[in-house]
Amino acid sequence: QRQPLFDALEQLADKEWQAAPLLAACPLADHKALTPKSAPKSAPAVVPAPTLQAVLSPQDTQQVVGQVQMASEAQAELAITCARAAFTDWRDTPVEQRAQMIERLADLLEDHRAELISLCTREAGKLLQDGIDEVREAVDFCRYYANQARRLMTTTLLPGYTGERNTLQTQGRGVFVCISPWNFPLAIFLGQISAALVTGNTVIAKPAEQSCLIAHLATQLAHQAGIPPAVLQLLPGSGATVGQALTSDPRIAGVCFTGSTTTAHHINLTLAQRTLAEHSLAAQNAAIIPLIAETGGQNAMIVDSTALPEQVVRDVVRAAFQSAGQRCSALRVLYLQTDIAERVLALLSGAMAELSIGDPALWSTDVGPVIDAQAQAKLTEHLNQMQAAGNTVLAQTSLPDHAQSGHYIPPTALTINSIKELNEEHFGPILHVVRFKAAELEQVIDDINASGFGLTLGIHSRNESFAEHIAQRANVGNIYINRDQIGAMVGVQPFGGQGLSGTGPKAGGPHYLARFITEKTITNNT
Ligand code: SER
Repeated sequence: QRQPLFDALEQLADKEWQAAPLLAACPLADHKALTPKSAPKSAPAVVPAPTLQAVLSPQDTQQVVGQVQMASEAQAELAITCARAAFTDWRDTPVEQRAQMIERLADLLEDHRAELISLCTREAGKLLQDGIDEVREAVDFCRYYANQARRLMTTTLLPGYTGERNTLQTQGRGVFVCISPWNFPLAIFLGQISAALVTGNTVIAKPAEQSCLIAHLATQLAHQAGIPPAVLQLLPGSGATVGQALTSDPRIAGVCFTGSTTTAHHINLTLAQRTLAEHSLAAQNAAIIPLIAETGGQNAMIVDSTALPEQVVRDVVRAAFQSAGQRCSALRVLYLQTDIAERVLALLSGAMAELSIGDPALWSTDVGPVIDAQAQAKLTEHLNQMQAAGNTVLAQTSLPDHAQSGHYIPPTALTINSIKELNEEHFGPILHVVRFKAAELEQVIDDINASGFGLTLGIHSRNESFAEHIAQRANVGNIYINRDQIGAMVGVQPFGGQGLSGTGPKAGGPHYLARFITEKTITNNT
């Protein structure tokens, strides 16, 4: 099975890819009727040239992976018009037909896995294994949500008085804006979209600027699977322009966002301001719409003295450094009970010295680059600040010479006294280590809860009641006992956090689709 994949990946190693907005043809009359305030009074005299952006590989900035044509705010507005016009037909398409299209998309993802994996490594700097897992997860999302929709989107007959017929119906809400991150450029991109589409919404997708090539290919495959162009449109662009234009438009019916907590707050504010502005004009478009946000974490692992050090180290290395620490689930703060701490740290230092840093397209690589120069600069600054503040570096993997050509950060473990010292998420291969005494356990849990984040938590202990006690006390969405805390599987570990880490519902879980629908009860006194 693997050799044909390797051969295909080799052939794709130098391919240059293109991405551009994928917009449907737009009925202009409808555009004017729907947007009396924002419709242009006359056609602009000069159509600005599209912005082209070169995509350079994160592991070697001399390598051009492709080019992206960015969308404009005017295109965002037109996309909403088209998506609105297409909504009723799509909403009224039988769920079985929509589910079958999403399943056909899953088949196409499998047929095109080599291209998708190649783009994951070259555009997003993901390891080969991460790319393989990413395609698998995208396929799982499509199949899982197709089946969930079949279950959810049936008319339910409810009890009632004699002669009265009560039914509960579900249907799509309208135009959903899906804003996705670069760290899961395929799985989260398609997870959001497939959920919104299969429940009968039309979608405008705005992928992260760093992963538009993958998003473009995935959208083309969705169209090939039968999803009409007006039902799913793609707008590569920045959050400040395209994202802002989409989320501030009164015609959208929902936003699904995965990214930083700061951006989620900004979107929340934009939605509220848009509602207030519309409300003050007594307009019909002041509806309160859902924001589904999956955001950051300050994820901890608590290790007590009964834990098995070898197992702890294996899981810490994977949770903190796989995907160069660029997972929202990744381990950031390792709490070690003092009795076991030195043993674990000695083993950890040995394991980190063995990590191979380099080209993500090689099987031998353990840690690839971070996404871009900005991320590299921010993480470097954090490391410098921590050291200037007197925090000790416990272990650091040295970077090979060739890492100079890309955006690499050395995997690093350093001491801190408490999670309270970290006031933001550091999205890279940096592990903060805190030693705690047995008597301080309750304080540790309080500190983790007080961070306000609540995405993942690891617990290593052979004392079952101790592990259970922590799991019950922690305000965290995904808790893993005696294993690593990354790589949630669709339908097996529904994923999503609490507090600053997100609004819920959990992606890949049985309640996810409910946020994408409206419900209608019809009581008929026959
Ligand atoms: N779902 C991913 C994981 O569990 C994180 O986004 O690692």
